[in-house]
Amino acid sequence: MSPTAPQFHDRMLSLGLARVSEAAAQASARLIGRGDEKAADQAAVNAMRDQLNMLDIKGVVVIGEGERDEAPMLYIGEEVGSGEGPEVDIALDPLEGTTLTAKDMPNALTVIAMAPRGTLLHAPDVYMDKLAIGPGFHRDVVSLDMPPAERVHVLAAAKGCDASDITVCILERPRHEDLIAEVRSTGASIRLITDGDVAGVIHCAESEITGIDMYMGSGGAPEGVLAASALKCMGGQMWGRLMFRNEDERGRAAKAGITDLDRVYSRDEMVTAEVIFAATGVTTGSIVQGVKREPGFITTETILMRSKTGSVRRMIYRNPVKRVQD
Ligand code: FBP
Repeated sequence: MSPTAPQFHDRMLSLGLARVSEAAAQASARLIGRGDEKAADQAAVNAMRDQLNMLDIKGVVVIGEGERDEAPMLYIGEEVGSGEGPEVDIALDPLEGTTLTAKDMPNALTVIAMAPRGTLLHAPDVYMDKLAIGPGFHRDVVSLDMPPAERVHVLAAAKGCDASDITVCILERPRHEDLIAEVRSTGASIRLITDGDVAGVIHCAESEITGIDMYMGSGGAPEGVLAASALKCMGGQMWGRLMFRNEDERGRAAKAGITDLDRVYSRDEMVTAEVIFAATGVTTGSIVQGVKREPGFITTETILMRSKTGSVRRMIYRNPVKRVQD
């Protein structure tokens, strides 16, 4: 960052960030339950991009819709914002849970994080093995190097409860069959989710509300950085290790400047400075309400957070669809 560049005023920028995620949710809401993942995603992308370009930032998308040749909008490396203001990294998923939206299932979110330039991990579009727990435990109490059953036992001991009192959230995928069997062998309960592991990880930060103590399993690496941003604001620990299935995926890592392919990234190694994070509900879930459409109004709920203060706001926004005459 150039020494004369304007500072990253997280407090000033946070409301603008909420507007970006609200706009994406409103746009994709028209596509809830219509069975068209692509249209729902595109609506969110268009709205998010338009709103982002109204912000006074010199932004670069580091986590986005894909490589430039795969995604015409919000691609990795795209410059966003008015070009006036602080130099920032942007991580976004305009619609986290395209299938959830298309099928009108819970927990679809629009998600965006912003941090000073050069401070968010440029995670390539590969899988990441993820592990997350909520706040209040000593550092590195569990680790990705522990077998899954050991993680459950260690966390139960740290919480002062039995393994059978622990609930682990896991994406329901054939690749997770062994993981699920091992976790079940401890007596722990598993909340299986069909999609949406950003929400899956966030659940750990509010375990007294969501009932989830730990998140485990592989999902998108870009979603991993978004989840780490949220946990940095809410409290909680997270670790991620990139997973590569072929040369093309290793090439993506090289392009992103990653040389140590086996590295385990902690939350603060994925997000190395203060970050702001906003997510708006598209369909209702355990974190926020989904978009509500009523004659004349559209209402959204957004969770807006800043890591500097640990502040977490839940904001209800009622937007008149047509101008209401008094
Ligand atoms: P989309 O938003 O692209 O639909 O992704 C949903 C999601 O469930 C993510 O939350 C998760 O990280 C990833 O897909 C898992 O990938 P896969 O479906 O290949 O297991």
